[in-house]
Amino acid sequence: MKKRFAVLTSGGDAPGMNAAIRAVVRTGLHLGYEVLGIHEGYNGLLASNFGTLTARDVGGIIQQGGTILGSARCPEFKLDGGIQKARAVLEAASIDGLVVIGGNGSQTGAAALATTGFPVVGIASTIDNDLLGTEISIGVDSALNVALEAIDRIKITASSHHRAFLVEVMGRNCGYLALAAGIAGGAEAVIMPEVPTELQVVIELFREAYQRGKAHAIGVVAEGAQYNATTLAQYCNAQKDKVGFDLRVVTLGHVQRGGAPGAFDRLLATRFGVTAIECLHHDETGVLVGLQKGQIVTTPYALVAGKTKGIDHNLVRMIGMLAA
Ligand code: ADP
Ligand code: F6P
Repeated sequence: MKKRFAVLTSGGDAPGMNAAIRAVVRTGLHLGYEVLGIHEGYNGLLASNFGTLTARDVGGIIQQGGTILGSARCPEFKLDGGIQKARAVLEAASIDGLVVIGGNGSQTGAAALATTGFPVVGIASTIDNDLLGTEISIGVDSALNVALEAIDRIKITASSHHRAFLVEVMGRNCGYLALAAGIAGGAEAVIMPEVPTELQVVIELFREAYQRGKAHAIGVVAEGAQYNATTLAQYCNAQKDKVGFDLRVVTLGHVQRGGAPGAFDRLLATRFGVTAIECLHHDETGVLVGLQKGQIVTTPYALVAGKTKGIDHNLVRMIGMLAA
């Protein structure tokens, strides 16, 4: 009987997950394995909701956002007995290895399953870019481009009306998306959890931009920051005379996650998917597949699971300097 590997997508979906599924399935078939797709993350695993995937099943999906397997949050997987139940299901179905495509929480769960001795390989996939072991995860680049398109458009109307905008982006507890969008979008301020910013400082940044004769001011706010965009706006609008600009709020939310993957994410996801199956093939398991210095690398879960990547302070210091 052929060896069987399974693949699932878990947590928040990210543009490029489908490209990773396609690469996993086709590489697995190429190396002579049967590949099963598990539906709706760990929920589907615990419910034995899976089936064989053929090369045709993953045709035409490389350019599609989301995940054809579906994704979910699965509280049961975190409970006592969840991991053991998952292992029992995998063994009952004669599955010899599992690829988990997902973010920080999903990889923490995958690491727990790997500690039972079951062969697991993780693929870093989250728009939050908070995973250790990789410089960038699947979905970050596409989500960032969506945020940038929005910021570029907002800037146009902001300039016409001499307004300031606070644009709130996703990222959970990580400020990477806000910081990267802020720099690439030419923002006057970035408010993120890693760099606590007092409310009064935001007013000052906007006022200074107004006094320098700018036609607009953009503040990018990470959803995990100490104050969200609405709270900041209420505070600023209560002191309108000090800000100078009229101020509006735009919350981008799930719009950032929903798009089609760009070239970078399709390539990254494909490289990650191929490597994940090659790892299972070579019995290199209990690892997360990521990108470091342009190379695809693997890092043992023991070094990355349950941890969060910090912010790059070299990028942080650029904001004030470039908002001149
Ligand atoms: P993401 O993977 O995008 O960060 P979540 O943090 O919501 O998304 O995690 C996705 C799923 O991973 C959770 O619903 C749960 O099933 C599993 N998971 C998260 N944290 C753990 C944990 N500490 N132990 C076991 N499973 C976990
Ligand atoms: O982890 C990805 C992410 O989009 C975070 O940026 C955000 O905080 C969270 O998922 C939103 O989760 P949900 O889709 O369950 O609302």
